[in-house]
Amino acid sequence: MDLPRHHTIRETSHRIIDPFTDHQLATLGRALRLDPGATVLDLACGKGELLCTWARDHQTVGTGVDLSTVFVAAARERATSLNVDVTFVQGDASSYVAHEPVDVASCVGATWIGGGVVGTLELLGRSLKPRGIALIGEPFWRAGPPNEFLSLPDLVRQLGDAGWDLVEMVLADEHSWDRYVAAQWLNIRRFLDEHPDDELAPAFREELSTGPLDYVTNQRPNLGWGVFALMRRP
Ligand SMILES: C[S@@+](CC[C@H](N)C(=O)[O-])C[C@H]1O[C@@H](n2cnc3c(N)ncnc32)[C@H](O)[C@@H]1O
Repeated sequence: MDLPRHHTIRETSHRIIDPFTDHQLATLGRALRLDPGATVLDLACGKGELLCTWARDHQTVGTGVDLSTVFVAAARERATSLNVDVTFVQGDASSYVAHEPVDVASCVGATWIGGGVVGTLELLGRSLKPRGIALIGEPFWRAGPPNEFLSLPDLVRQLGDAGWDLVEMVLADEHSWDRYVAAQWLNIRRFLDEHPDDELAPAFREELSTGPLDYVTNQRPNLGWGVFALMRRP
């Protein structure tokens, strides 16, 4: 099983495959007050930027699991270039449990692997030390008509109802959303110019023609996103 090709093309230029900038990812790493040698498991780790930069900045030791062969190859290259102690496993993370309990277990931008936020917390909890920290990266709705996402208060309520203390959070903003979404447009345009006859070209052409207006109209003003740090209640 591998991630469909359209994702890896759209996210060619990204190191972080979520609406965080380098700065916000670093802020989160500092906020967690990680000790050197702390162990971090990242499920659906993408290109491994969280694990690699935290290993560089805080001397953490990481394991990442991701479905995408392309992203895992990029993650391994990044770990080599930063000379950090991070291991990547290519495969389905939806039932992955660490061999040894870890200090931090995260799933950032992929809570479908546990069937939603509560199931993903339960999955992460199986790998955590008793006072370990779970990280969940999740969208929420800031404004606009009701939709499939919870509001921020309802999301925080859900995390508490599931039996976890919210102990830190870092939230994306409209500018960091742009780095995730708008950066995809140039990736798509370049792909179209270089591969006009690719089987994905018609769908990408449609996406580039309609996506930016849809984004600024519906998503940018309304959709929030954040990473929530949680510790299980005793
Ligand atoms: C939105 S990206 C987030 C990547 C990374 N956490 C980040 O924030 O940069 C979602 C990731 O989930 C991965 N993914 C999707 N389903 C998966 C599964 N069942 N097991 C492992 N990885 C999965 C994709 O390959 C992709 O890298």
